[in-house]
Amino acid sequence: MAELSSAGAQMSICLLQRRETALARRHMDSRWQALNNRRMADPLSLFWAPVCAIGSHGAAGPNAQICVSVFGASVTPERPRLLVTLWKDNFTHDLVAASEALVITVLSEPLAGLVPRLGLVSGRTQDKLAGTGFELTLRGDPYFPGGAGVADCDVLRAFDLGDATSFLVAVRERRWLSDSPVLSRARMHELLGGDFAERWEEKLRRSLPGYREAMAWG
Ligand SMILES: Cc1cc2nc3c(=O)[nH]c(=O)nc-3n(C[C@H](O)[C@H](O)[C@H](O)COP(=O)(O)O)c2cc1C
Repeated sequence: MAELSSAGAQMSICLLQRRETALARRHMDSRWQALNNRRMADPLSLFWAPVCAIGSHGAAGPNAQICVSVFGASVTPERPRLLVTLWKDNFTHDLVAASEALVITVLSEPLAGLVPRLGLVSGRTQDKLAGTGFELTLRGDPYFPGGAGVADCDVLRAFDLGDATSFLVAVRERRWLSDSPVLSRARMHELLGGDFAERWEEKLRRSLPGYREAMAWG
């Protein structure tokens, strides 16, 4: 009996030691993660959404742009809302403002090639959708079936930020599209490489003076 209880005590000590080691390892992992995060990027990059395509339509047909400013905006589960911020000089911005509807495709890694096409040039000057494999919602808004997920939305309110408009949208329907990994902004840069990064920087350089002038700040 005494032997049994001493064996039991030893087992408890052993379990406790194992638990402490696991906790210590987890603590080290999270410290390493925190250091790594700091090395990688500006902490504000934590607020970028996965890379999304926002589709809408007008009299001239459908159009879509890239957007990383999409945020959850509901507590009430049966009334899902999102906040989508679109820069005013984008053609898609005007289509969304006029039609009061948009569709969001959360892009997947295999669709990274769509980013330069939808995110660096404007549908004002060319048909960006040709050959992209897009499909239309019942309302005529374009989405990309190879993406990770899709959400069909109605605009509820529009908030003027000066340089951009934040559209508060109600999600009317959503579903997963595939099992492919979601395209993060970091992965997008890895997949698209230096040529894309240069074209993106160049686009920003051209646009920033105008945005600085127009934005609400102070
Ligand atoms: C990685 C990436 C992220 C972007 N994020 C946004 C964004 O959050 N909001 C926005 O309005 N435009 C964003 N853009 C820019 C638009 O996609 C871009 O200006 C596009 O050419 C607009 O097309 P359109 O004029 O046909 O609407 C982003 C572009 C890229 C490449």
